[in-house]
Amino acid sequence: MAAVVSSSSAAQKSSWFSGLPPSYSYFCHHTSYTACTWKSCFFPHNLGSKNSLRRLLTIHPISSHGVVPSTCKSLVLQRRLSVFARSAINSQVADGPKVQEVQVTISGHPYPIYIGHGILSEIEILKRHIKGKSVLLITNSKVSSLYMDQIAASLDRIVDAINLEVIILPEVERSKWKENVFKVVDKAAEAKMDRTTTFIGLGGGVINDICGFSAAVYEGGVNFIQIPTTLTAQVDVAVADETGIYHLLDKQTICSYYEPECVIVDTNTLKTLPDKQLISGIAEIIKFSLVRDGIFLRWLKDNMETLLARGPNIMTYAIRRSCEIKADILSVDSQRGQIRDVLSLGRTFGHAIEITMEPREWLHGEALAVGIVMALDLAHRLDWIDDTVLIDAIVAMERAHLPTALPAYISKEILLQNLSLSNGGHPSLALPKGPAGNCVFTSSYDKEHFDAMLDFFCLGRRE
Ligand SMILES: NC(=O)c1ccc[n+]([C@@H]2O[C@H](COP(=O)([O-])OP(=O)(O)OC[C@H]3O[C@@H](n4cnc5c(N)ncnc54)[C@H](O)[C@@H]3O)[C@@H](O)[C@H]2O)c1
Repeated sequence: MAAVVSSSSAAQKSSWFSGLPPSYSYFCHHTSYTACTWKSCFFPHNLGSKNSLRRLLTIHPISSHGVVPSTCKSLVLQRRLSVFARSAINSQVADGPKVQEVQVTISGHPYPIYIGHGILSEIEILKRHIKGKSVLLITNSKVSSLYMDQIAASLDRIVDAINLEVIILPEVERSKWKENVFKVVDKAAEAKMDRTTTFIGLGGGVINDICGFSAAVYEGGVNFIQIPTTLTAQVDVAVADETGIYHLLDKQTICSYYEPECVIVDTNTLKTLPDKQLISGIAEIIKFSLVRDGIFLRWLKDNMETLLARGPNIMTYAIRRSCEIKADILSVDSQRGQIRDVLSLGRTFGHAIEITMEPREWLHGEALAVGIVMALDLAHRLDWIDDTVLIDAIVAMERAHLPTALPAYISKEILLQNLSLSNGGHPSLALPKGPAGNCVFTSSYDKEHFDAMLDFFCLGRRE
């Protein structure tokens, strides 16, 4: 027997699922279930014989990631295919190569992301991507004590007479200020590093943004490698054509469109990551699944326990699939048009929640999780998604111990103010639409449903 939701969220759960068809209500109102109950809830028909499945796959071939084609209109058939697809993913996960690669092609400078367990000591990767004989390693006090020796040892083995300089920035939150960029640039200049130098960022998103921005401006742009060590940075910062630091007036003011030479994601580094940081990254992963791949969403839900335990193969697949989804979307929108706006799913509400809170009360991913649930709820009210999308996403989040409701002190007025909607306006939003894995970015939705959704979240009222 597996617990579906934590008992602490029982009150919230009962309000959430009221009014849904009896089978779902059955599932949702029981804190534990058997595989059999689950199956009878969601899969009224069994998988069928091998032959009928084979015939089905010939008519509707599924992609290597188990994406069921839209030619398959029947819901029952789609479910049969998706169960098959998830087992296909599981065999890929079990038999995947040690180092997996995702190619990112957003602009004229394509780069690879290498993902695997224990790959920091794979010196071939560093050897391939370090240019010149000087390296500036940029890290912070926390991460340096955990992983710097490993990198230094690998560098030592690959480059003869390498000039390795290290800068260790203080481990303070929100340290993406220009002062830290100047510390990096000063260090490189003092060491007389020239244009052939390579900067390496070892740490979370903050360190990797400082590294990327410093590399973009030093000597007009030098080679740089990202080694992200938080889950958020591994799935989000790793796939980006933009790197920036904070300005007091606006987060986006100081940035550069500059891409790394490569990104190295070692899932082993997640072992030391605090749980809260890990689940914040899982919120991003759930977002990617909702934006592009419904099978991935259900796979995440089924494998959440192993993901939380940082199971190496499961983690590698989840990171790889997230990077592929983001890379796919950015590659078709290299001019920064509106296609990539679907990646803002949950972010508008999440941001409004974050600025209401005390610093450090919630991490970004936790606010994002609630923002995603609000977007899902609105899409469900608009009849744009069916119950399964809503339920699968919420169950995945609850299994990850992510919040799915607003803290009681956030009122509708505060939220509207933070959404900058005091004049009765409504924001453009990324909203799920259609089967799981489809999202649109739009301002064309029924505003009454928007208000009803806010009432539900802020006042706990569901009509
Ligand atoms: N460039 C982009 O496209 C992009 C995209 C998303 C986010 N970001 C930026 O990323 C930043 C957030 O990144 P983050 O969530 O990684 O936060 P972070 O960089 O602040 O890291 C979080 C904490 O985890 C610690 N840490 C890092 N790796 C660790 C490990 N393996 N074990 C133990 N502790 C570890 C860090 O020292 C830090 O205290 C924000 O500044 C955000 O703007 C940039």
